[in-house]
Order: sequence, then C-alpha cells, then structure tokens
Amino acid sequence: MYFQWYPGHMTKARRTMQEDIKLIDVIIELVDARLPYSSKNPDIDTLAAGKSRVLLLNKADMADAAVTEKWKRYYEEQGYFTLAVNATKKNELKAVNQLIQKACREKIERDRKRGILNRPIRAMIVGIPNVGKSTFINSFAGRACAKTGNRPGVTRGKQWIRLNKQVELLDTPGILWPKFEDQSVGLRLAFIGSIKDELLQRTELALDFIAFIREQYAETLTNMYGVEETGEEPAVLEAIGQVRKCLKKGNEVDVEKAASLLLDDFRNGRLGHISLERPDEK
Ligand code: G4P
Repeated sequence: MYFQWYPGHMTKARRTMQEDIKLIDVIIELVDARLPYSSKNPDIDTLAAGKSRVLLLNKADMADAAVTEKWKRYYEEQGYFTLAVNATKKNELKAVNQLIQKACREKIERDRKRGILNRPIRAMIVGIPNVGKSTFINSFAGRACAKTGNRPGVTRGKQWIRLNKQVELLDTPGILWPKFEDQSVGLRLAFIGSIKDELLQRTELALDFIAFIREQYAETLTNMYGVEETGEEPAVLEAIGQVRKCLKKGNEVDVEKAASLLLDDFRNGRLGHISLERPDEK
C-alpha cells in the first residue's frame, strides 16, 4: 500500500465544494499534465452539473507535449474547454481569460437576451492537492489585487478577486480528493510526489518507477545514469546507486538513497518531459 486516507477530510471538502459551486458559473479544473486521468476526480462531474467547464493541464512544462496534446483532444471531446499551462509562468496564463469567455459564451448570450448586461462571470478553481491551484491563483490573479469584498446574502464569507470587467474568481480553491480506490492511480500520484513520502516505501516505489520508465521511455535511465536497463529492477536501482555514489559504510550501495535520488530526479524534471499515462491506455 502506498498511502493512507482519512474520510473525514473528504466529507468536509465535499460539503464546502457543494456550497461554493452554487455561487459560480464556470469551474476551472486543474489537473497535472503528467497524469491527467489520475489527478482528476470524477465526482466533480456530479457536483458541477450544469456549469461551464474549463480544464487546465498544468505543469505542462514537465509532461510529454505530444501526449498532452492527445489529452487535450480527449477532454475536448467530452465538452471541456482545455489549455496546457505552466502556472509558474504568468505570461502563459493570458490565454486562460479568453478560454473562460469562450466557455461562458452561451451564458453571456443568455444574459444579454434577458437584458442582464455586465454581470461578471464567476469562476472557481478546483483540483486535487498539489496540482498547482495556489500557484495558479497567485500568478493568474496576482495583478488583480482589488478584492471585491463580501456581498451580503449572495457571497457571504467569500472573497472574490476581480480579474477584469467580465470575470471574478473565488479566492480559495476547491480541494478535490483523488480516486484512491484505484491502486494504479495511487501509484502514479506517488511517482510525482503527491502523496507524502513518509507514507511510502520509497524503494518499492522506485522499483515500480524503473519498470514504468524503461517500458514507456526506453533509454532514459541509460542516458541519464549510463546504466543497463535490461536487468531486474533491483539490479538497475543498485547500478544507479553505484554510479551516483549512494554508498553506505563498506562501499555497499545504499538502496534507499538511490531510490530517493531517482525519484527526485524525475520529480524535478531532470529525466526529461515524461507523461505517466495516455488517453488510450489509462
Ligand atoms: P496546490 O495549491 O494545488 O496544492 O498546489 P501548489 O500551488 O502548492 O503547487 C504545488 C507545487 O507545484 C509547487 O512546488 C509549485 O511551485 C509547483 N507548480 C505549480 N504549477 C507548476 C507548473 O506549471 N510547473 C511546474 N514545474 N511546477 C508547478 P513546491 O515544490 O511545493 O514548491 P516550489 O518548487 O515552488 O518551491
């Protein structure tokens, strides 16, 4: 088992989200571009019924661009307005505004026909932990520091950030929970470091990662560490430990240290642009 889960958090998160969703027009959902299936929670579809949907594939700078493009198409076919982004780069986020307008075009048109003009679109960010929600809000809304304050009766206790004439953003993101029932989802979330490492067995995880990467991105380990990829996974990890001098007293390989090094190299993008799942083989 790679993780533990506390249902209490889930119940509270769901309740808060249900309340917040009542106030908004468009849901901006963030997923991790390296695993756009595993970092997405399907429950949001029920919670968000009837709302416009924007899906941002964040951390696209770390993912395999060709695979991200396939995911974009996959989700567009399901009715989402999508964009691949890097939330740490403010200038890349300009396009998000246009996407929000596009996603809400029908609603704006409906309002206009009913004589409602200039009512801002209200948006909210949602996503599972660590997909970049806070980073996105800071980068995207950083300039628009004018908060609108509370509006009694409608948005009690909520802070809205006015992004421009047309859009207001709820300043706190909705936190979704991952689909933990699925073991392979848990494993992939553990690969990217979204599950606290104290809860994990790093060596086991690194061995699983080796199995994945040599199948999907052959030669990556050879190019990075100069090791043979063909042996059993423990032998490959041991070889990485040798090369990178992860040694204990007596020059024995410190396997746990080698595991940490490998996982950190992947998580920090040093192994290159890697996607952990593809739409045709979730
Ligand atoms: P959350 O609110 O959804 O939980 O996520 P948060 O914004 O805290 O982001 C989690 C981590 O992901 C942060 O790194 C953040 O810098 C990083 N991040 C967010 N968006 C992107 C992106 O588009 N590309 C890349 N490469 N990284 C992104 P951290 O390790 O917690 O901190 P630090 O690395 O910034 O020091």
